[in-house]
Amino acid sequence: MSFPLNEEHRMIEAMVRDFAREQILPGAAERDRTGRFPKEILAQMAELGLLGMTVPQEYGGAGVDSISYCLALKEVAYACASTAVIMSVHNSVACGPIYQFGSDYQKEVYLKRLAKGELLGCFALTEASAGSDPASQRAVAEKRDGYYVINGTKVFITNGKNADVAVVTAYTSKEKKHKGISAFIVEKGANGFSVGKIEDKMGLRASDTAELIFEDVRVPLENRLGDEGDGFKIAMISLDGGRIGIASQAIGIATACLDAAVNYSKQRIQFGRPISQFQAIRWMIADMATEIEASLLLTLSAAHLKDQGRPFTKEASMAKLFASEMAQRAAYKALQIHGGYGYMKDFPVERYYRDVRVLTIYEGTSEIQRTVISREVLGA
Ligand code: CAA
Repeated sequence: MSFPLNEEHRMIEAMVRDFAREQILPGAAERDRTGRFPKEILAQMAELGLLGMTVPQEYGGAGVDSISYCLALKEVAYACASTAVIMSVHNSVACGPIYQFGSDYQKEVYLKRLAKGELLGCFALTEASAGSDPASQRAVAEKRDGYYVINGTKVFITNGKNADVAVVTAYTSKEKKHKGISAFIVEKGANGFSVGKIEDKMGLRASDTAELIFEDVRVPLENRLGDEGDGFKIAMISLDGGRIGIASQAIGIATACLDAAVNYSKQRIQFGRPISQFQAIRWMIADMATEIEASLLLTLSAAHLKDQGRPFTKEASMAKLFASEMAQRAAYKALQIHGGYGYMKDFPVERYYRDVRVLTIYEGTSEIQRTVISREVLGA
């Protein structure tokens, strides 16, 4: 990898690689089969500082840069894509907005415990009729008797069932369109806040995806994140960071696909020789390796811009678009190289193929990423 990584980056990458391959990878297939949430693993990850990676140490985090975060996330994803999305959502779109927009009180009460891994976070923006178009959401937060009273239903919320704290968006004044959306920190135990349908998914089966229902949920005024009307921007800015995380997740899964394909192709004998000696296979492997490298460079470059406090919206979308589509191709090729065996659950590529599919959909579909990129390129 030619990106200029420093000593700390390399140390973090190596540390997380060892941990992920020793502690996370061995149970990944079993968790995929049973859908068991990796609670014990998250406790270990908390010890290693992986649940508040870019949050400064004064707020309980590890205080490392976004490049280190990407390197760590790709290593976790290599071992278990489900664990990686839990980590990504918790870090990028739960800790992220509270650190960036939270008050001192919110940082003290929520961020410190989230960053230490004592609490798990989720991000509740999406609704049944508001996916790519979050401004069309219907949830409302009405100011009443010294509280915000939230009503609405959020869907497809990663960590929704297991999270202790949710960053939730809702309209405080509908007539202002997206400028009337506000963000709130809502605790799981709040009266009227319940978990609805738990989705039965194609992949990422050890990470929960849930409906969150808000029925007259009273939220203290001090739990509003940012000013009234800031919610849409907070969501968009947080998603910029989140998209670098999903790109890293894609790179981790694609690398696992590449390694599986390399190993299998060296062992599988057909026509009297390992299939790795056939040009058709070699070219697929060459393309996978090249595209993984390109994705990593795009992702680390976006992370570097973020670390420097420079604009990175376009670059985050480019990284997410390219890496998530690249990972589809990598999973396809890895399965193809495995032939019939790849279609069976005995080999991990079957899981990679399912896990990777959602990456071009969540945290903004490929079509939304192209919308963001084209607006920036065309200036309109
Ligand atoms: N940074 C800062 N501000 C931003 C911004 C960004 N990246 N993107 C938009 N904004 C601001 C704009 O500047 C504008 O501000 P003003 O009103 O002050 O001018 C405002 O937000 C509205 O912007 P747009 O007019 O561009 O808004 P839009 O309604 O056309 O939508 C969009 C733009 C890019 C399509 C956006 O809606 C979008 O990203 N949609 C995808 C939503 C998404 O990614 N959902 C993922 C759900 S979470 C998830 O998946 C997590 C998980 O479980 C893994």
